[in-house]
Formats: sequence, C-alpha cells, structure tokens
Amino acid sequence: MKAIAINEFGGRDTLQLMNLPVPEIKPGEILVRVKAAGINPVDWKIREGYIKDLFPYEFPIILGWDAAGIVEQAGPAVTRFRQGDEIFAYCRKPMVQGGAYAEYIVLEEEHAAIKPKNISFEEAASIPLAALTAYQSLFDAAKINPGETVLIHAAAGGVGGFGVQLAKDHGAVVWGTASGRNEEYVQDLGATQVVDYNHVDFRNSVRSEYPDGVDVVFDCVGGEVLEKSADIVNKGGRLISIVDDPTGLIRKDIDKEFVFVAPNSTQLTELARMVEQGRLKTRLSQVFPFGLEEARRAHELSESSRTRGKMVFVI
Ligand SMILES: NC(=O)c1ccc[n+]([C@@H]2O[C@H](COP(=O)([O-])OP(=O)(O)OC[C@H]3O[C@@H](n4cnc5c(N)ncnc54)[C@H](OP(=O)(O)O)[C@@H]3O)[C@@H](O)[C@H]2O)c1
Repeated sequence: MKAIAINEFGGRDTLQLMNLPVPEIKPGEILVRVKAAGINPVDWKIREGYIKDLFPYEFPIILGWDAAGIVEQAGPAVTRFRQGDEIFAYCRKPMVQGGAYAEYIVLEEEHAAIKPKNISFEEAASIPLAALTAYQSLFDAAKINPGETVLIHAAAGGVGGFGVQLAKDHGAVVWGTASGRNEEYVQDLGATQVVDYNHVDFRNSVRSEYPDGVDVVFDCVGGEVLEKSADIVNKGGRLISIVDDPTGLIRKDIDKEFVFVAPNSTQLTELARMVEQGRLKTRLSQVFPFGLEEARRAHELSESSRTRGKMVFVI
C-alpha cells in the first residue's frame, strides 16, 4: 500500500512516499481502508522527533493520527464493527508507527466510532483528534458549566474552533483570541467577543469586561500566552493548556491542568451525534490529494501556525 512515512526524524524532506505492506490485524482490531486522513500539528512534531523521548516508536513511521474510512476486515473479538462500516478515529497507539497517511490502517476498536452520516469522509477525518482534545479539556478537565465565561486561545485553529463551538453549545459565554482577519470566522463559530492578539493585550480586554477575570482559560498556544493567562483567571477558576504544562505557574488559587488527548470512542460517538444534530461543524481550509509534494506543503502550512480550521488528505 502507498503511505507517507519517514525513516528518520528531521525536516520536510524526510517525508517519503513509500510502498509498505498492508498491516495485519490481531484480535480486537479492525483493518480500515482509509478514505481521508486529518492533518494536525502533532504530525510535523513527530516528523521533527519531538516525541522520541515520550513514546516508543519504530521506523518507518507512517504519520497521521486522524482517519476516516471503511472497515475492510474486523478481527476476532471485535464487537462494535463489521466489514463495510464507515468509521472515523483518533489513531494514537502505544507504539508510534502505523499512522493514517496510508491506504490502510489497523486500529483497536476503542479508537473508532461510526462516522457521522451527514458529512463526507474528508470532513470526518478532520474531527477526532482536535474535537476530542477540546472536549476533554473543557468537560473532563475544566468541567465548564452553563453561564461561565471561557476564553479560548487560538480560537481560529483546529482545536480552538471546536472548543468555541462546544463551550457555546454548553451554554458558556465564549471569548476567543485570533488575528483580525479571523474575527468574523470565530464569531460565526459562537464567540461573543474576539480579541485580536496582534493589536491588544488580551488581559486588558478581559479585565475591562470581567475585572475579576474569567472562569476558564483554554490555552491552545502555550509559552508567554499561557503565563499571561494566569493573570486573568478568576479565583477558583481553571487554566487548562494543551501546549505547555501550567502546573508550575505561581497562582495557587486556581486549578491548573495540562491535557493530553486520549482515544475515547464513547466521546467520539457523542461528537458524531452532535455533528448529526447540526450542533458541531468542521471547517476545512485545505483538502489535499494524497502525494509527497502535497504532504510537504501541508506540513509547511501546519508549521506556520496560521491555518484556519482543519486540513485533510483525500486518500
Ligand atoms: N495536548 C494535546 O493533546 C494536544 C492536542 C491537539 C493539539 N495540541 C497542540 O495545540 C496547539 C494547537 O493545535 P491546533 O491543531 O489547534 O493548531 P492549528 O490549527 O495549527 O492552530 C492554528 C491557529 O493558531 C492561531 N494562533 C497562532 N498563534 C496565536 C496566538 N499567539 N494567539 C492566538 N492564536 C494564535 C492562528 O490564528 P491566527 O491565524 O488568527 O493568528 C491559527 O488559526 C498545537 O501546538 C498542537 O500541537 C495539543
């Protein structure tokens, strides 16, 4: 099968179009014919080698942690899927090796859920990793309540965009940070207020409306943005980051948590239901054909941190 994979860590020139064997299934696993693969910043971070001290890995590494496709074969002991089912999945496995930039992928059934019926494979492939991250950050970590104020950094990005919609759907008052050119886009997702971080200090904007701060900051940027965010969380509020660990920050009177998204088929099924009910949408900024030059271009765009919504490959 064709796959975009690496045999060493490094820059975009390490990406290769390889011909690799179709992976074999074990009990509890499904073989999926991939129709579309989602593109996430973790893909280029893996390519660069950022994960090499965090996870076991084996070359060649097929990149890609988001897939949508059709079950080709269900292994023994698989209870939830059968051949022909249309699924989508967040594909992180204990061993970093067999990813979604390929014609086939093997998954444990816990990684997958039935794809929402009202969207394409391309749209479905853009959802699992980013939407699960937002879901677990807002509901499992921050435990947001209706009526609470939630500030989301990088609200025009993949995770932030789902975060704005999920928080709004839950009845929160949502603020987002984004560049001016993305203001309308983020408002359209459900934000009450969009702060152009290039021109104003988001802390001043927040304080002018909420002198005691907001209930929750969901940080999808990290670094200085995360540090500054600690200043505008109200007493007893929550500061959640998916980029840098906030637990060492000085504030003792707020909850601070780093979230690393975990596969969760129950939550993915809930997200699929929300998509079918029209409560959650995905916005694709780029749909790439499956090829080496396209993969290099997609990584270049992802590395820029300037993309809006999501990008996918059609396989
Ligand atoms: N821990 C986890 O489980 C987990 C899961 C998913 C992602 N992540 C990480 O979380 C980060 C975001 O992921 P993503 O998929 O949402 O990325 P993404 O889609 O590539 O994010 C791009 C967006 O970031 C915005 N942005 C960049 N700098 C900003 C700033 N200083 N303030 C506000 N917005 C800014 C850009 O908005 P403008 O163009 O409007 O500036 C752009 O829309 C990445 O570092 C990723 O690796 C972690």
